[in-house]
Amino acid sequence: MSASPFKTRIFSGIQPSGGLTLGNYLGALKRFVEKQDEGIETVYCMVDMHAITVWQDPAKLRQQTREGAAAFIAAGIDPARSILFNQSQVTAHAELGWIFNCIARMGWMSRMTQFKDKAGKNSENVSLGLFAYPSLMAADILAYKATHVPVGDDQKQHLELCRDIAIKFNNDYGVDFFPVVEPVIEGAATRVMSLRDGTKKMSKSDPSDQSRINLTDDADTIAKKIRKAKTDPEPLPDNLNDLKDRPEAKNLVNIYAALAGHTPEQVIADFAGAQFGTFKPALADLAVAKLEPITLEMNRLMQDPSEIDRILGQGADRAEAIARPIVDQVYDIVGMIRSRGR
Ligand code: AMP
Ligand code: TRP
Repeated sequence: MSASPFKTRIFSGIQPSGGLTLGNYLGALKRFVEKQDEGIETVYCMVDMHAITVWQDPAKLRQQTREGAAAFIAAGIDPARSILFNQSQVTAHAELGWIFNCIARMGWMSRMTQFKDKAGKNSENVSLGLFAYPSLMAADILAYKATHVPVGDDQKQHLELCRDIAIKFNNDYGVDFFPVVEPVIEGAATRVMSLRDGTKKMSKSDPSDQSRINLTDDADTIAKKIRKAKTDPEPLPDNLNDLKDRPEAKNLVNIYAALAGHTPEQVIADFAGAQFGTFKPALADLAVAKLEPITLEMNRLMQDPSEIDRILGQGADRAEAIARPIVDQVYDIVGMIRSRGR
């Protein structure tokens, strides 16, 4: 990757705030596995402290954290090669998050579109944590001096903020301590859209379950949701440009491409002129073929929650070994006395 003085290290996270969707899989998980398999050092985190920025039932949070971890492993994350853990077990995240709260400016945070979307008209009544969320996200990444962060398109602005925080910290303290991270937003499905509305992101928090494919859906449910997905009456065109004003059709083509590991151009070449009556069953078959083994493996792993907890605990020990010395150096840079145990 780049020729920066920092060692290449990947960090990314997913919130255990609900079941994972096809959007999470194609935009994030699948690409996390690819990075691991390229032999790069990879650190992946279930960000449970981010999840509680909106209310989470404690029992469900635990369940979703384990389910998320099971999805990582089922999708191909090998806990021996990647570090896989949950955020709250490594306190360096919260500690560095506080320091970054004192680096980030109110004005920067106020411009975050995800906060504006999530807070909506309710901005007086959302948690302070929801506002500070991107600063904790910067801490997640920089506690490891990670250089590259694979995410979906919706996280681009948060990663720009992470760069701003790293640059301001380095400038304020006259150091070259934190790397300026590179977002890795690539592939055909950086933004998987809702199956009900091609202008809205597929999301685990959408009230309609028909709008998304969950990684826990069985084969029948997946096929049914794809068959019922909103489309238009036109057949597929013979070039991508003609999908410009057809968001639902474009979304299905992108999903097909990402699942098949093809480019959208190849998919259009294969299905030019096809009606959705032909394309949708082909997409449903492909989706089931790719997702069913993951779902089955997730279910198998979920039979033994204590084994998942053990893996997360071991991952946390390895994560801590990297993050602790980095955050200790931050304390020294900032001017905090550390004299315990002397
Ligand atoms: P979240 O579920 O918000 O914690 O997101 C976890 C990861 O999945 C992030 O990298 C997101 O950018 C990615 N992601 C979430 N929804 C989608 C989507 N609809 N399309 C592509 N990537 C997504
Ligand atoms: N904010 C990300 C999301 O909602 C999740 C996240 C938290 C994350 N910390 C991160 C992603 C660090 C990448 C790196 O999708």
